[in-house]
Amino acid sequence: MTSIVRNQWYVAAYGREIGREVFGRTICGESILFWRREDGTVTAMSDRCVHRRFPLSEKPSHLVGDTVVCGYHGFTYDADGKCVAVPGQTRVPRTARLKSYPVVEQDSFVWVFIGDDDRSDSVPIPRAPWLDQEGYTTVSGMEPLAARASLLVDNLMDLSHETYLHGGYIGTPEVANTPITTEVDEDAQVVYVSRHMDDADCPPFYAKSTGIQGRIVRWQDIEFHPPCLYLLHSRVAPVGVLPDEDGSDPGGFHVEVVYAITPETEHSTHDFWAVARDFALEDEGVSDFLRESNRTVVLQDVVALDALERVLAGEPDGYQELSINIDTGGLAARRIIAAQAAAGAEQVPDSPATLASR
Ligand code: FES
Ligand SMILES: [Fe+2]
Repeated sequence: MTSIVRNQWYVAAYGREIGREVFGRTICGESILFWRREDGTVTAMSDRCVHRRFPLSEKPSHLVGDTVVCGYHGFTYDADGKCVAVPGQTRVPRTARLKSYPVVEQDSFVWVFIGDDDRSDSVPIPRAPWLDQEGYTTVSGMEPLAARASLLVDNLMDLSHETYLHGGYIGTPEVANTPITTEVDEDAQVVYVSRHMDDADCPPFYAKSTGIQGRIVRWQDIEFHPPCLYLLHSRVAPVGVLPDEDGSDPGGFHVEVVYAITPETEHSTHDFWAVARDFALEDEGVSDFLRESNRTVVLQDVVALDALERVLAGEPDGYQELSINIDTGGLAARRIIAAQAAAGAEQVPDSPATLASR
């Protein structure tokens, strides 16, 4: 039984990673080739040549105009994955075609649909508009995780771990000590977890980037769109400074932290992270600091989750976990993901993709 939710959109890459070179990445166990057509749009198709399976993302495979040429014997495919030339004969076998994937470029991400293509229109792609929006400056990256995606979901849904795992960076005692509220929008399939601290230590991540001295109001409002897009709306301000009654917030500093959690395989994950801020927009020093700090924090999680994966992989099934209040959001996320997995695995008659997933 696979733990990967099919029939969903996943972040495959940042738009900046894909250009006029072949680019391969495994998403949900599928080896996918990405490249940009001459008009700048991204296309995605199987990364295995139909002839002898050579990866089309490996040199000397290469692009010629809007075609990709296999580096082994020269099978040539158009941007839809259809084979248009083979060596030594003019007739191209009718079945010579790579599986192609629906792709959308949005909010600086390249999204790919994993599942039955004809369902892609009915599945919404969640938004993270700050990442390429005027009025925000963003730093971002991706770290590979040798752990299953569900461990990263658990990790992000419960930020009390910041106090322990990220002390000295983003963790302070108030994070673990402040209770959370959790809400689930069942129709929209969104989990909200909030923690509002009225009078908290200012961790270096915010002290150095905002210049606030002394204690702060610190709000963490999580909005998770299962299975894969996690938004943390973070607001910090000097103690006592709250938004105005009309909702405007000139005294607050806002950071939108975005994670895209993309399974690579059952037991490995692409951990895309981005930090968008609405202050010090032109300050390269602040950008460098936030990029370095957030990457350090992500790598602290990577070390912990890789260790957890080794523990889980070596244990028999059926261990009874013990959960407490801080786990409410994570448990809600698991429940929605399980329902999505069941719905995504529903069979569509005669669908090859469904057959392959059994
Ligand atoms: S493996 Fe691609 S042309 Fe032979
Ligand atoms: Fe963390």
